[in-house]
Amino acid sequence: MWKRINMENQEHPKYAFFQGNIIPISEAKVDIRTSALQYGIAVFEGIRCYWNSQENTNYIFRMADHYERLFNSARIMMINIKYSIEKLCEITVELLRKEGYREDSYIRPFAYNSGLKIGPKLGDANQDLFIYTIPLGEYLDINKPNKVCVSSWTRLPDNCIPPRAKISGSYVNSAMQKTEALLNGYDEAIVLTSNGQHISEGSAMNIFMVKNGTLITPPVTDDILEGITRDTVIRIAEDIPGIKVIERSIDRSELYTADELFFCGTGAQVSPIGSVDNRPVKDGKLGTVTKKLQDQYFMVVKNQVKKYGKWCTKV
Ligand SMILES: Cc1ncc(COP(=O)(O)O)c(C=O)c1O
Repeated sequence: MWKRINMENQEHPKYAFFQGNIIPISEAKVDIRTSALQYGIAVFEGIRCYWNSQENTNYIFRMADHYERLFNSARIMMINIKYSIEKLCEITVELLRKEGYREDSYIRPFAYNSGLKIGPKLGDANQDLFIYTIPLGEYLDINKPNKVCVSSWTRLPDNCIPPRAKISGSYVNSAMQKTEALLNGYDEAIVLTSNGQHISEGSAMNIFMVKNGTLITPPVTDDILEGITRDTVIRIAEDIPGIKVIERSIDRSELYTADELFFCGTGAQVSPIGSVDNRPVKDGKLGTVTKKLQDQYFMVVKNQVKKYGKWCTKV
């Protein structure tokens, strides 16, 4: 699914944090009866780590914010995480130091119901957390605008499986959307809210629309994951003179008349959208606002913008 992962890189990951220790990843195994595996009762994060070749070092982007969201997801799913955010950050840095990547990578923390009993139920006494990392390139094309469709699968409603929590079982919904898009020759899907009335997000990324110099993104009550990249884009857009940001519901037909559209997410980064349902977004090329935000985003994540240095943790 990840584009341009270095598939020849069979060496990594070498390690995982599992059951309280960093061990060889080949030894990190779960029982086939595990509730998380059987019923999807688990919450997770995806965090990027960027290789800064000028400084010869890696920077983890907004790590504490991701762990804070992990805790919020866990509260919704009654999963108890026995480590503090500070401890999880320490473990992550140690894991990355041991891997010794000299390329961009991705961190996957996973807190789960490790009980072995039959029957789906939250709040099991047996809960655990593991972390592993992988080398990671681009998830979507960041230079060539992506061809997208509106999915026939809608997002899950909050009172079914809350999209604001990053719940492993809910990614079946994302898989339906992404697979349908790929099978129909598109790069990615745009997903409507559960009532079909508004735009929610992509299969695993948030969405922004540019219209008459205003940057518009769906509000957190439109069945979205409250993306950390979404927040980053809003913050850096506010620094650019002349760009106004608003959060409001977006109708499907507004996408067809947008000046620019782009996805954003830890995986997707800032990825331009060139067409929706075969209708080009303006001239179908990378838009000027998207390009400005993209350039700034890649500076920020590599710790090249002083103001946002606090978001970057050196490995
Ligand atoms: C469903 C969904 N929406 C949005 C996002 C973007 O969130 P973030 O920017 O925090 O990675 C993701 C990726 O994690 C996602 O899975």
